[in-house]
Formats: sequence, structure tokens, C-alpha cells
Amino acid sequence: MTTVAILVAAGSGTRLGSDMPKALIPLVGRPLLAWSILALDASEHIDGIVVVAPPGHERPTEMALGEIAEPLAVTIGGSSRSRSVAAGLEEVPDGADRVVVHDAARPLLTSDHISMVLAGIGDADGAIIAAPVADTIKRTDEDLNIVETADRSAHWLAQTPQAFRTESLVRAVEIALEGDYIDSTTDCASMVEAMGGQMRVVPSALPNQKITIPADLDVVAPLLEAREARA
Ligand code: CTP
Ligand code: MG
Repeated sequence: MTTVAILVAAGSGTRLGSDMPKALIPLVGRPLLAWSILALDASEHIDGIVVVAPPGHERPTEMALGEIAEPLAVTIGGSSRSRSVAAGLEEVPDGADRVVVHDAARPLLTSDHISMVLAGIGDADGAIIAAPVADTIKRTDEDLNIVETADRSAHWLAQTPQAFRTESLVRAVEIALEGDYIDSTTDCASMVEAMGGQMRVVPSALPNQKITIPADLDVVAPLLEAREARA
């Protein structure tokens, strides 16, 4: 079984408000994306890594990978996350049975996440790491009147990594491009769901915070510092 990782790192980081692409901002001594590369490289299941870089920042992205890992390819991202995934898929070599897609914005990735999500595929088209919901979920109308309290146990917070049979994700991306809804999808699983594929959740309590706004840096930095101290 051959498994290739696609690290999507091509976003601009509008909500973070930094003057450089989010994946390249320094965090605890490394560019943000380097933390994910370290974990992907440490996983016994990953045979190669494709990095999807911010347009115009291919060289700094290659520099940020430094001596950690030699990627299969560094390619340029698209105008939305899913288009960046599509660009990454173009670089996945024939013969890769499975792909693991991960957001560079989640630096707390570990080889445990990767093992868990791959084991979760089973007979399905793919699986995702997801966290149970701790808060009560309210659905509202457009005026913020509550119209429903949802069944919390049936809802999950979708994270990355997300793992797929390569043929399933390739087909799902093709259909999303043909159907012109690719830009409205915010994760890969939803494209497979939209074509009627079977996706499974792998419940995870592992820390996996996404860096979206500046306050997220304050949450994640101490965890990475602790990891460095243990290494
Ligand atoms: N991403 C990408 N290509 C895009 C948009 C996003 O590869 N055109 C990647 C980001 O680099 C990130 C992941 O998808 O690793 C999740 O996206 P998000 O957290 O939304 O990052 P940004 O789009 O960069 O941030 P923002 O939405 O605040 O601009
Ligand atoms: Mg975004």
C-alpha cells in the first residue's frame, strides 16, 4: 500500500492578518507548515509528501521545508482550499492507493492522527479526524432566533488529516469541478459526500487546534514548546 500526503499551505491567512502567507509565519522557532511536515515525515505510513504552496512563495516554502524532508513536489495552490487540493492531487504519483490531506494551519499534527485516520478508512471511501462537540448546539434563523437544539451526539467537528482511497478523492474533485461547486466546499470529505461516497468519522481527543485568528497562536504555542522540550 502506497500512501501520499498532500499538505495544503496555499492560503493567505486573511483572518490572521499577517503580512506573509499563514503557512510561513514563524511559530516556536519554525515556519507554521514545518510542524506538519515533521509529523508527516515521522509517520511510518507516509511514503511521500506533496506541498501546495502559496502563489509567489514557492521558494520560501521550499526553504521552510529545509532539511526536514524532501517533498515529492512543491506545487502552486489555487484560489480556494479545494482547488489547492486539486492542484496537489495532480502531483500524486500513479500507484498511490491512498492520500492523506492535511491543513498546514493545524501544526499539532502527530503520527497518531495519521495512523488513526488511515485505519478509519476500512471499507469506506475515506475517513476524517473529528472532535466530539462539547457545547450545546443551537440552530437559528437569520434573525438569530433559536429554531432548534440539535442532537449533539450526532454532530462532529471536522478536522484534518482526512484520508481517502485516491480514486475516490480524484473522482470527487472532478465532479465538484464539473458541477461548479468546488469553491463552496470547505473540506475534502464534503466533496466525497456530495458524490454519494461513504465517509467515516474517527473520534479524536488529541489536540489539533487550527490557527485561524491571532488568539489561536497563544493557545498552540505552549503546546509546541512543550513538545520541543520533550524532544
Ligand atoms: N488553503 C489553501 N489554498 C487556499 C486556501 C486555503 O491551500 N486557496 C489552505 C490553507 O493554507 C490552510 C487550509 O487550507 O492550511 C485551511 O484554510 P484556512 O485556515 O482558511 O487558511 P487561509 O485560507 O489561509 O486563511 P483565511 O481563510 O483566514 O484567509
Ligand atoms: Mg480560508
